[in-house]
Amino acid sequence: WTSEIHYKIHIQGIPLLERVVKYWPRVEKFQASEEDLLIATYPKAGTTWTQEVVDSILNEGDVEKCKRAPTQVRMPFLEMTAPDGITKLEVMDPPRVIKTHLPIQLVPRSFWDAGCKVIYMARNPKDTVVSYYHFDRMHLYQPEPTVHYSICLVLCKMGILGWGSWYDHVKGYWKERHNKKILYILYEDMKEDPVREVTRIAQFLKRQLSKSTIEHIVQMTAFSAMRENPMANYSTIPDTIFDRTASEFMRKGEVGDWKNHFSAGEDAAFEEHYRKIMSDCPIPIRFTI
Ligand code: A3P
Repeated sequence: WTSEIHYKIHIQGIPLLERVVKYWPRVEKFQASEEDLLIATYPKAGTTWTQEVVDSILNEGDVEKCKRAPTQVRMPFLEMTAPDGITKLEVMDPPRVIKTHLPIQLVPRSFWDAGCKVIYMARNPKDTVVSYYHFDRMHLYQPEPTVHYSICLVLCKMGILGWGSWYDHVKGYWKERHNKKILYILYEDMKEDPVREVTRIAQFLKRQLSKSTIEHIVQMTAFSAMRENPMANYSTIPDTIFDRTASEFMRKGEVGDWKNHFSAGEDAAFEEHYRKIMSDCPIPIRFTI
């Protein structure tokens, strides 16, 4: 079993959705400007959360401004061409906040030439793949390897998922973080101490915010608040794309839900595999907090 069964099209060996590949020449040639900010993640790592935190920081915690439009309109998804993405970005003026799941080697060159800032969020792979599994169940236009095989098997073969191997993805940005303007953040750290992590992001964006504004942003972007916010919870995506009877986009938002999906034996097998693969790149990713 390979990604070929599920993702028929690859760019430089990375499995991608057909509608991503269709417009690839435009994505590749996208002209980034120095003031643009790229938010990069592996799917299901907490992208939407990071986007909301960034928009709240840029708008200094102004709730109404952050509710001006749904996430995908405020911060388009670079390589996703329907219903948003490259077309929206091409007519938007910089500074733009841009979402991508592309591994670092596929990020359009202009981002690096222009010296753009990048915020990369990584999440532990067990929770990422559990979240991916529930997302595959609800997403009606996405191949669903996680639904067809055991989650644990998928975890060891994360290269079969859309946007390629989780391991290569997190390592790629980690290794370049000091050579490029990359702020590397971890989902588990943000859950553990959101005030500390939101402050780090604000500093990276060179925004001076008071302690009370930071605390307000933490409340606005908490899972419970985002779940109730139609401009931040993807409730604007039609039911013909997201089958909400299968799962929710704002599902649990926790660290350690993987414990409900793995037997002790599966977990031990994965841990061994993980240690080997990550031995050349000690990213301090935690599976519990
Ligand atoms: P779960 O499926 O584990 O609940 P992405 O935005 O990259 O697709 O990631 C989606 C995951 O992030 C989902 O995980 C979702 O619930 C979680 N998430 C979204 N907003 C969050 C928040 N404010 N705090 C914590 N987790 C959040």
